[in-house]
Amino acid sequence: MSRSGPSGLRIKSPDLLIAESGADLEGNGLRRSMGLFQLVCFGIGAIVGTGIFVGLSDTVARSGPAVIVSFVLAAVTCVFTAFSFAELGGAIPVSGSSYSYAYATLGERTAFLVGWCLLLEYGISISAVAVGWGQYLNELLASVTGWQLPAALSNPPGAGGIVNIPAVVVMLLAALLLVRGVRESARATAAMAVLKLAVLVLFSVIGFSAFRSGNLAPFAPEGIAGITSGASVAFFSYIGFDAITTAGEEVRNPRRNIPVAIMICIGVVTVLYCLVALAAIGALSSGKVAGQPAALSLIVNRVTHSTLGGGVIAFGAVVAIASVVLAVMYGQTRILMSMSRDGLIPRIFERISPRTSTPVANTWIVAAVFAVPAAVVPLDVVMNLTTIGTLAIMAVVNVSVLVLRRTRPDLPRRFRVPLFPLSPVLGIAFCGYLMYGTGPSTWMQFAGFLIVGALVYALYGRRHSRLGSRTPEPGADATGGADAGPGADGTDSAAGGRVRDRVGAVPE
Ligand code: ALA
Repeated sequence: MSRSGPSGLRIKSPDLLIAESGADLEGNGLRRSMGLFQLVCFGIGAIVGTGIFVGLSDTVARSGPAVIVSFVLAAVTCVFTAFSFAELGGAIPVSGSSYSYAYATLGERTAFLVGWCLLLEYGISISAVAVGWGQYLNELLASVTGWQLPAALSNPPGAGGIVNIPAVVVMLLAALLLVRGVRESARATAAMAVLKLAVLVLFSVIGFSAFRSGNLAPFAPEGIAGITSGASVAFFSYIGFDAITTAGEEVRNPRRNIPVAIMICIGVVTVLYCLVALAAIGALSSGKVAGQPAALSLIVNRVTHSTLGGGVIAFGAVVAIASVVLAVMYGQTRILMSMSRDGLIPRIFERISPRTSTPVANTWIVAAVFAVPAAVVPLDVVMNLTTIGTLAIMAVVNVSVLVLRRTRPDLPRRFRVPLFPLSPVLGIAFCGYLMYGTGPSTWMQFAGFLIVGALVYALYGRRHSRLGSRTPEPGADATGGADAGPGADGTDSAAGGRVRDRVGAVPE
């Protein structure tokens, strides 16, 4: 079930991935407790947050009223990639998301680098989102009490402060909820998701009540370049839909529910973002929206001539963004759990507490590590890194669909991407286009990050890989090894032994 590919790649078969996760149904691992509604709320919880509430003003600064086009470009990128996620999530319904898909198609080295980039998409993204939360908390405090936290304690160095305390606090609170168990966290996330949708609809209604079509001209003051870089910023507000696939082991009927939930989430947020962006610019010219902190509150205050409406929006943003922190932190812990099970990172990340059925140590490590950039790195830097890392992963996911169709055409697929192979190919092209829009300094930072990742794999992951310990190296005697049928090479029992070992050997 594991094999060396034609070029010596360590590839883990989808059957092995599913067999391993199925062992959790025995009662020692994660519980299958999430249905479709919870899953959609979880997706909305992961998606809608800092990007629309805080990032909108940055997108407008780059694109002008053509921010609508930027949002649509970002959405199109996500739709093609969402199709690919949906096909893979239905075919390989396990925790780990794009990391697991890369392991099953492109091999361990690529999978490790995907997992490494997931530290940007999830970990660094938690930091970015937490910083945005701090901004709206200050706006809420100003509306309710007329007082704000001093800049020194609510901004990082380089943005007029010393340390961002609110960002750290929200991350620690999210960790506290998550270690208490997925059922409670999912319920809290569902309530927050409904609330944030209501707040954005309310904002749109208020914005459209003051809509002036003259505010849409000139439509694209910075031309195509502005629209492209705006689309890269807008993309941040779509990140998170793939978190749905990281819950594969905790979802009932995952082959059906994962693809359906992804499609519902993308559809809902695309419509909502376009409405919010139109309402914002229609109510206030793009020049006045551009670069404003807490822009949605500002617009509502202007339209209603009171601070009450802005306070309500700020409250919604504080709740909404907190739910993103919660959902994204959840996703990060599950990805690290998958990598740990594979031996690519230390085993502490796979430990599940028998008391709460959650990865307690893993969750606290994630919160502690990513609280550091949240506290001291400027928002635009962490947002851009999140964006480029996520786009790179999504390009790999599209490649994985192409590869899996060729290597495992027999695998049951509840959902198949339309217009194959055009859809994943366009997904790759759009990801590349938006990566280009992030700019040279982000590219340089990303290159450095990848080099460090490659070194970590070479020095730790490759040596400790559990798949590697039972996959013959290229050129070695492959008797009973590569590509042998189930049972013939002992990998079935190896998988079972590994699962037993995982459950039995690392309790907390
Ligand atoms: N899409 C998430 C947000 O906008 C990351 O906060």
